[in-house]
Amino acid sequence: MARRRGDGQRRILTYGTYDLFHLGHVRLLARARALGDMLIVGLSTDEFNAVKGKTCVMPFEQRRVMLEACRHVDLVIPETCWEQKQSDVVDHGVDTFVMGDDWAGKFDGLKALCDVVYLPRTPDISTTELKRRIVTYRQLYLSSSEPDAILQATA
Ligand code: CTP
Repeated sequence: MARRRGDGQRRILTYGTYDLFHLGHVRLLARARALGDMLIVGLSTDEFNAVKGKTCVMPFEQRRVMLEACRHVDLVIPETCWEQKQSDVVDHGVDTFVMGDDWAGKFDGLKALCDVVYLPRTPDISTTELKRRIVTYRQLYLSSSEPDAILQATA
């Protein structure tokens, strides 16, 4: 669709929460960026996460700074509601909408406006999995007679 604007750039758009930025996020962003010339990320705000029933470890501003520091990301915009995707695609002249395949089929309605691609998720990593590991680690730490040794062992 960006080609219709005449600048020759293929624009890619994706959305997510990107809490505790991890390998699965980086791989998704790298593959999304490789589909075009510019990657826009719609980053869920803390208020929208509350609507989704998600609680983030990192607030929006910190998640935004992390994403902006990623070389695959060209622009971060706030995602404040489910309904904005259609207008974002139009307003940003998006060619391709990308999500991980945990969302497969969910955004096919956008196919009238742009290409829609679902990329395979990276296995065995997620924000939820990282939270689980930290909780397990905390339990180990609290129950240890030598908590400092636990800290050093996992450093
Ligand atoms: N993603 C991925 N591979 C992973 C984890 C995430 O490709 N292992 C993708 C998701 O499919 C999504 C984007 O990264 O397109 C942002 O995902 P997000 O929901 O922020 O990350 P999760 O780690 O899945 O978070 P949670 O565990 O809270 O659901």
